[in-house]
Amino acid sequence: MSGTSRICGVIGDPIEHSMSPVMHNAAFEKIGLNYLYVPFRVKKEELGKAIAGMRALNIRGLNVTIPHKVAVIPFLDELDPLAQRIGAVNTIVNDDGALTGYNTDATGFLQALLERGIEPREKNAVVLGAGGASRAISLILAERGSNLIILNRTWDKATEYASWISQICHREAKALKLNRENLARALSNADILVNATSIGMSPNSNETPVSPDLFKPPLTVFDIVYNPIKTRLLREAEAAGAETISGVDMLVWQGALAFELWTGAKAPVKLMREEAIKGLKEYEN
Ligand code: ATR
Repeated sequence: MSGTSRICGVIGDPIEHSMSPVMHNAAFEKIGLNYLYVPFRVKKEELGKAIAGMRALNIRGLNVTIPHKVAVIPFLDELDPLAQRIGAVNTIVNDDGALTGYNTDATGFLQALLERGIEPREKNAVVLGAGGASRAISLILAERGSNLIILNRTWDKATEYASWISQICHREAKALKLNRENLARALSNADILVNATSIGMSPNSNETPVSPDLFKPPLTVFDIVYNPIKTRLLREAEAAGAETISGVDMLVWQGALAFELWTGAKAPVKLMREEAIKGLKEYEN
């Protein structure tokens, strides 16, 4: 560190299991950037003060995680149009006191698909869940031109979001209640299935949202859960002959795209992935 060092970090609560510090600090070092990435545990009621602190301390960039992704918006000066449409921010860039909010969860998800050679345009995509993560994913899929079906345990939430997506994307998104019958119907001609619920996340790693007999390859199954790295859903999808993408890929790409917004440098994605996997394995053990 020196007088010209720049600081980035992540705000959330809890924050101690975040993989972002190891990913970003390894990336800064590799590229030879004089930056440091710090985790900050920020309680809900301290969010405004934390953002004022970002300005006062001239912190270059922050990632924003649970529970602040929506609540942070009123404290920012500008929103990138995609973050505005999603209504959530996971990355802030500080340009000489002007704070702009971005959503690299959405762009990171898309990048993780494209990196694997999967172009969602005109594909049938089934998204499970209608929470924060699902909203970013569903919107970017619809904007890219996927035919979207959202399934959620609480049907009202799925319907509300699907009709909003249909309105802004001028393409119909369907909503169904998450149950076996509807899953079977949706998966009968699906190209992409995304689990954007927390089903299967440690310590409930024996759970899965989809019974394996419903997989109809060719199918790509993307699980945003990255803890465990290989969820039961991914193991069973792989066994059924589906292509699988782990939540680690979305974690890495949302980080890589944030890194590029802060530094202007190309992110060392391979290294960031290795660091994330190393950190997650330590956490699993
Ligand atoms: P996130 O921001 O990570 O998306 P969230 O906003 O709390 O988190 O959303 C969690 C999602 O997982 C929701 O879609 C939730 O369904 P409900 O809207 O019905 O609550 C879904 N979810 C979590 N646990 C679930 C379970 N055991 N069965 C079905 N859906 C579940």
